[in-house]
Amino acid sequence: MSGPRLGTGAAPGKLVLFGEHAVVYGRPAVAAGLGCGLGATVEANQGGATLSIPRWGKSGLVVRLAEDRGIEAVARAFRIALQVVGLDAESPVHVTLAGRLPLGVGLGSSAAFAVSVLRGLADYQGVELSIGELMDGAQAVEQVFHGNPSGMDHTVVTHGGCLRFQRDQSPIFRPVECAEPVPVVIASTPRQGTTREAVDGVRARYEAQPGPFERLFDTIAEITEAGIEALAVGDFGALGRLFDLNHGCLNACGVSSVKNERMVNLARDAGALGAKLTGAGCGGAVVAITPDGGQAVERALLEAGFAAFQTVVGA
Ligand code: MEV
Repeated sequence: MSGPRLGTGAAPGKLVLFGEHAVVYGRPAVAAGLGCGLGATVEANQGGATLSIPRWGKSGLVVRLAEDRGIEAVARAFRIALQVVGLDAESPVHVTLAGRLPLGVGLGSSAAFAVSVLRGLADYQGVELSIGELMDGAQAVEQVFHGNPSGMDHTVVTHGGCLRFQRDQSPIFRPVECAEPVPVVIASTPRQGTTREAVDGVRARYEAQPGPFERLFDTIAEITEAGIEALAVGDFGALGRLFDLNHGCLNACGVSSVKNERMVNLARDAGALGAKLTGAGCGGAVVAITPDGGQAVERALLEAGFAAFQTVVGA
């Protein structure tokens, strides 16, 4: 006997190890899938397409497309995802999005939203999405949140693993070899503004001073390539120093807030080998290299009132 029709789809979050922002200007970046993510469950629902994210904000988020209810950007993103699998606002489906991934702090929650909802809807509809169709659909959904994303976030979230990504190169991404899983602590605080605003802010500063910014992005590219070599031989000391250098460049780009600096300094003082902001910045997440003493770093950040957890990347 078969039960009620159900579709499911999942996607991990992502962590940018090197090269965020510079990647928008054609430089390479390295990002890895995270061990936590989002999962979409799709079931039948009378009265049009709805989406609920119980963990969003204080009391959860509900989008009812037929009644035009919910946050506008999320509603637009949901509409696009429905179209990809041949559904629309009137379709009788309900999507619930759940998972342990912190939302809106630069750990890829909008890319994980896009990929998990697309996978769940495709599973519900019995539609086979090719990787290319999934990536194109995710790019369209991401554009709602990010304007002109490099494509790195949904590429990593779709494929998982640790990838070198460069938007103007063919192939656009390739796997990065990691000799050993890298132990890290990730800490976060709410962001001031969106990824789109952070990317637009860098664009405005770039346009005012293109020469220095081009050289800054070249430096970030050099740090990224050195980071790939350090990952390949498991040199955590070099990775830490390169994190510190990359963070300094991101500060120069104008995307490190007072809270980012505080988290980075707390992590370094508690024994991390290096620390940097990760993702768009302006608040959000930082990542610290912690081969020993991850607990002390996590505790220092938690005691200062930040969210923090230990994990490994490149496993
Ligand atoms: C956001 O995770 C990474 C950025 O480089 C934006 C992008 O690549 O689209 C800031």
